[in-house]
Formats: sequence, C-alpha cells, structure tokens
Amino acid sequence: MGILRTGTTSAAVRIQVSRTGRPALQSPSKLPPIKAASLPEALPLDQILVGDCIAAIERLPAASVDLVFADPPYNLQLGGDLRRPDDSLVDAVDDDWDKFSSFAEYDAFTRAWLAACRRVLKPDGALWVIGSYHNIFRVGSILQDLGFWMLNDIVWRKANPMPNFRGRRFTNAHETLIWAARGESSKYTFHYEALKGGNDDLQMRSDWYLPLCTGDERLKDGSGAKVHPTQKPEALLARVMLSASNPGDVILDPFFGTGTTGAVAKALGRHFIGCERDGVYAEAARKRIDAITPLPPEAFATAPSKRSEPRVPFLSLVEAGLVKAGERVTDEKRRHSAIIRADGTLLLDPAVGSIHKVGALAQGLPSCNGWTFWHVERPGGLMLLDTLRGEIRAQMAAA
Ligand SMILES: C[S@@+](CC[C@H](N)C(=O)[O-])C[C@H]1O[C@@H](n2cnc3c(N)ncnc32)[C@H](O)[C@@H]1O
Repeated sequence: MGILRTGTTSAAVRIQVSRTGRPALQSPSKLPPIKAASLPEALPLDQILVGDCIAAIERLPAASVDLVFADPPYNLQLGGDLRRPDDSLVDAVDDDWDKFSSFAEYDAFTRAWLAACRRVLKPDGALWVIGSYHNIFRVGSILQDLGFWMLNDIVWRKANPMPNFRGRRFTNAHETLIWAARGESSKYTFHYEALKGGNDDLQMRSDWYLPLCTGDERLKDGSGAKVHPTQKPEALLARVMLSASNPGDVILDPFFGTGTTGAVAKALGRHFIGCERDGVYAEAARKRIDAITPLPPEAFATAPSKRSEPRVPFLSLVEAGLVKAGERVTDEKRRHSAIIRADGTLLLDPAVGSIHKVGALAQGLPSCNGWTFWHVERPGGLMLLDTLRGEIRAQMAAA
C-alpha cells in the first residue's frame, strides 16, 4: 500500500478510460491564458495542462516554481516485440510518445524542455529528472550545459525488476534520478535531518531500494489493463518531495502521465502543475488526484532543522539566570567539571575558554560540542546545557 492509502484513503482508484474515443489533444494555444506575474495566484495551481509541455511551460511566469520533477520519454529504441520464454508478449514501452528519429532529435527536445523548466524555476529551485541508461547520460550532460548544478544522482534500485528475458545482458534493476539545483549558487531545499530521522538516525544514502508500482496503486482500466506503461511508485515521489520541498511549494511535472506527482503533492500539502499531452492519461490523472484526501498537516510538516535554529550564545543562559556565574558544570558521568564565569566562559584551572574549548580540553580531544557535553546540577538530577538552550529558543520563538 502506498503512502496515499494510509489513514484516510483506503480504496484503490479504478480509472474508466478507453483508448477508443480518446479526447482530442488540446493545442497549447487553447490553454487558459496565464497572467505574467510571479504571484502564486497567477499560476495554474493544481491543474493539468493538456498539450505539449514546452509550449505550456513557456506560458508560465518566470521564477515561479520551487521544484521540477520530470519523468521524460526515455527514448528506449525498442526494435520488434519482446517475448518471455513462454512466448507471451511483454508489455514494453513502445508508445509513440517515446519515439524519436535520432539522438539529435532527442537532444533538441531535451534541451528545449530543460531550458523551459530552468526559466520558471525560482533562483533557489531545483530539478529532479528520472531516466535509464538509454537517456540519463544525455539528459545529464545537457542540464549541465544549461547551467544546472548537479547535487546527486540517486539510484532507484528496484525490489522487483523485470528479468532480462533474452539472457543477453544483466537484469536492468535500477533507474537513475539526477537532482540538480537551478544554478551553482542556489540555496536549494534539503531536509537532511528529517531524512536521517526516518532512516534510523543514519544519513540517507543515494541508493534507494523501492518496489515498482504494482497492486492497488497501479491504475487499471475497465478491462484490467494498465492505464500507463510507466506509472512511477508513490513512495519514490514522496521521498523526493519530503527531502527537497516544503509544504505549500509549487512542483512542476512536465510529463505528468497518470499524475503520480500530483497525487503525492496533494497528499503532502504541496501544489502541483502538470503537463501531459495525452488526454487519456490526463483524465486518468485528474480522477486519481480527485480521489486523494490530503494527509493531516502534522503528518508532513517539516521539522525545523538544527542548522536553521537561531544561534544562542552561552552567555545568554547566564544573562537569563538559567545558569549562575560561579556554578559548576559537569559531564554526564561527573568525571570532569568546570566553573561558569560571569562573561559566559568556563574556567578549568588555569585555562579559560568557551564551553566547547574547555570541554575539548577536559577530555584531551581536538573538539567538543559543549552544549551536549556539559550539564548543571538541578533538583531532579543533571540537566544538559542543550536543554536550557532550548528554553531560550522557545522564548525567542514565542517573541
Ligand atoms: C515516462 S511517462 C511519465 C509517467 C508518470 N511519471 C507517471 O507516474 O504516470 C512520460 C509522459 O510524458 C508524456 N509526454 C511525452 N512528450 C510530451 C510532451 N512533449 N509534452 C507533454 N507530455 C509529454 C507522455 O504522454 C507520457 O505520459
């Protein structure tokens, strides 16, 4: 069960679409006009723009989007039918939207949509693009040429990859995501501590082990066939959004397909703008997103990171009367102690210095975080200086 089916939403969405009588593609010129302003109200928030993404994005105001997630055509270049050992046909991606006559044509297309996305990204915005060995190297080189700044490449290792039926190559068990900031100086969003907290307090690594989109999450039509050949798992999009965006952010997906980006954005309190040239996929995406109930805000609110918390000098604790000049600090096992001085330094006779320097000196170490090393005696037992610093921060937040 995906992230969107916890708590409030339980039933899988079954999409009634038919490849016959598919809606005509809406030409970009018929898209609703978008006012040229960078205010969010001027954006087609939480809408699917049916048509070519390059034309649609060119109509958006510059510097108006926080994050782009793009799952572009992979240009798989499949030749002929792919069959299993029992001769059954593999449901491979052989759709027209994935076909390009040459690498040059694919590169020109890639350059055009990446340039359009870069124009609408805010200066501190970032882009994620997912691909396979067929296209990701071309995409990566073009995005560097355009001025994007590579942050990571993520390997999405598939828990249940499709076997290599012909046995002529390794099983293709991963896809690659490039995460790039709009430019070298962009102050991009990254929720390092939240990711670490959800990973048993270990840094989140760049190899992600997640299953393909299957089961209830996979959209099926009335006859039980997949609505879209490359629907991405919600867990993948959730990890991208939780790590690299904030609630309320605007996330643009130029290749919306069945709207996985929109569904996860809605659940996690983000806005989306989706572009999809195929009216059937767009309609399936709209129905899917309509059925999503957003999670309660406390389930996705971003916890403040330690780095973003205001700096508090140790002297402030003395000035606020939370610790007293002349009082002793000690470590957890009471092996070391030092005297607090009125100017916010510590005395470890004969040395005088900051809580960090004196903590390091006491232990014979090159460095020490004095906030998490030193304690003061209080009626209930030892109290960490970091806890007292928290009281000052709480007062600052209230003010
Ligand atoms: C790889 S799929 C995206 C699947 C999507 N991430 C999902 O989870 O359903 C790429 C999609 O881009 C669409 N597409 C291809 N070229 C396009 C273009 N120039 N403008 C808009 N959409 C396009 C295709 O119709 C296809 O649905």
